[in-house]
Amino acid sequence: MKRKYEQSDIKNKLDTRIIGKNLIFFDEIESTNDYLKENINQFSEGTVVVSRSQTKGRGRRGNNWENGADEGIFMSILLKPNQKINSALRISLVCALSIFHSLEFTKLPIKIKWPNDLTINSKKVGGILTEIVSIEDVDSIENSLIIGIGINVNNTSFPDEIKDNATSLKLEKGNDEDFDIADIIALICKNVEKSYYTYLSERFKFFIDDYKQNCSNIMQEVKLIYSDKEETGTVLDINRDGSILFKSYSGEIKSVSSGDVSLKVSN
Ligand code: BTN
Repeated sequence: MKRKYEQSDIKNKLDTRIIGKNLIFFDEIESTNDYLKENINQFSEGTVVVSRSQTKGRGRRGNNWENGADEGIFMSILLKPNQKINSALRISLVCALSIFHSLEFTKLPIKIKWPNDLTINSKKVGGILTEIVSIEDVDSIENSLIIGIGINVNNTSFPDEIKDNATSLKLEKGNDEDFDIADIIALICKNVEKSYYTYLSERFKFFIDDYKQNCSNIMQEVKLIYSDKEETGTVLDINRDGSILFKSYSGEIKSVSSGDVSLKVSN
């Protein structure tokens, strides 16, 4: 039985001005991203939805993202960057980087897998599902971003289908003690707030070296899956717009930025 955490556990630790000031908390929900999307008109920038468990959680490329209660983090952050939709990739990379830094206290060998997976020894420990919601008014369009964050924290096992590719902080640490989920959520809110507002003034160039330093894919052989295509090659670099510079085995060099791209280390 996992230790149940409460909304007040997060609130008591929250040290932010905007992110998480409006904190909506559930014991169980289908998907924190869906909840935010369905009620987006009611909420201002920085609203955070957290649930102790998810029953219809969604991952990238149509995958499910579900865990038992209090095993993982399920949270969604609403951002209204007032920018063109094409900044979504960079903002999600900046969020991945700030979550990466939020987990440094574990001293585990965590890496970022482009665009925004967190891995330990090539196994996935966390991921981000970024969704864009455009609300059209008579003469303007407001683009909101929902940053859906899933982290495997205190899981001690995974279903057969994913057990070879998934891990948790607890499994990697080999601790008997559980990590304090509320602590980590409060830390993520603080770091995302700092990075997001820095991004708005300084842009992605401020983060790119840090991102590259902690990204596991650069100069690695990968299988690139994008727009229903699959190619093998090498990631040469991360571009200033957040896309990857990819050299396929046929020698073709191109930039790929689709939010749906995923990379797999070739066998
Ligand atoms: C991935 O596939 O890597 C992204 C996983 C994102 C899961 C999170 S959990 C909270 C939020 N709500 C969802 O339904 N999905 C995201």
